[in-house]
Amino acid sequence: MKKLYADNAATSLPKPPQVIEATCNFLKEIGCNPGRGGYRLGLEASRMVFRARELLASFFNVDRAERVVFTSNVTHSLNILLKGLLEPGDHVVTSSMEHNAVTRPLARLGKEWKIRVTTVPCAKDGTLDPADLRKALQRETKLVVLTHASNVTGTILPVAEIGELCASRGIYFAIDAAQTAGIIPLDFNALQLDFLAFTGHKGLLGPPGTGGLCLSERGGRALKSLMEGGTGSQSHLAQQPEELPDKLECGTLNTAGIAGLAAGVQFINEKGGPAYFQAQEGRLLSAFLDGLREIKGITTYGPGEQQKQAATVSINIEGWDAGELSYILDQEYGIMTRSGLHCAPDAHKTIGTFPKGTLRFSFGAFNTMKDIEAILEALRQLKTL
Ligand SMILES: Cc1ncc(COP(=O)(O)O)c(C=O)c1O
Repeated sequence: MKKLYADNAATSLPKPPQVIEATCNFLKEIGCNPGRGGYRLGLEASRMVFRARELLASFFNVDRAERVVFTSNVTHSLNILLKGLLEPGDHVVTSSMEHNAVTRPLARLGKEWKIRVTTVPCAKDGTLDPADLRKALQRETKLVVLTHASNVTGTILPVAEIGELCASRGIYFAIDAAQTAGIIPLDFNALQLDFLAFTGHKGLLGPPGTGGLCLSERGGRALKSLMEGGTGSQSHLAQQPEELPDKLECGTLNTAGIAGLAAGVQFINEKGGPAYFQAQEGRLLSAFLDGLREIKGITTYGPGEQQKQAATVSINIEGWDAGELSYILDQEYGIMTRSGLHCAPDAHKTIGTFPKGTLRFSFGAFNTMKDIEAILEALRQLKTL
């Protein structure tokens, strides 16, 4: 049976051959620890990390390469941000469409550090009205943190308007770009961001265990370190160095993963940048949404419009449990999807699918129109069972 992967919101598959080659090549040909030994291969490892940092800074339009910090994933990046920036008594504004990577650290900080959190309710299709967010701002609001696109419905949040608003009030602004980095063009400066948290293994097409946090000048200064340890720099100091990226990056980096991530970003650039994938995945999304509309008994969540969402679609079929559907699609048709709550219970409460959840299809760089047709045909057949 042919395998059809439609779970790119979890991780992108397949990876471009260049990503696999670069990851393996680093281990085979270099493999040394960057910033540690002064021998030639050690310096080669440092150069690779430096070039990857520069590539990502240019990709997201961050002014200085050292303001891109490598992490293990976006969850790690968000923890560095939230626990490094917030202090007891601070107020934070977020949305009701967030992933647990935002809501769980905030829940802990709320309990233990008495951080006050206002969650702005989104509409049933996941959209956020900037006027509602504006009303939630208080004098003590230190940070607004929002997902750029929901991993449940694909709904894109109005980050440009919110960036403008936060900048006018001097409030730090952060986005969780897990679902958009590599797929929707992101300009750190134009969006007036202080923090852009990204993961390497989804739209950026890199290996798992990679990610990063981009910082504005004031954001970089404001953050305290989440962890302390060896950086290969200023080893005589008892304290963590204050300079970036070392302040926020300690312990041995995932060098093989970073080499693969850089190859993923290069692959995207060679294709014409994220706009190329946005258009390609947008065509698949439109065709899928049109096809779903023609099948009776299917409820589709989210805006249902190509311009307003990433290529992620949540559905339910009358009379079916989403988990059962996902199982049958895999077993009978080789179609891989994800069912349930997708680590985003608040988003499901917002769209009215908590606690049962939905069946989610998410398309990526290597899906084709044939895949869309095959999925729609499978759904038509399931409807007649
Ligand atoms: C919006 C969002 N935030 C955070 C995450 C967590 O990503 P990672 O597991 O790479 O840290 C995901 C992944 O599903 C996501 O979709």
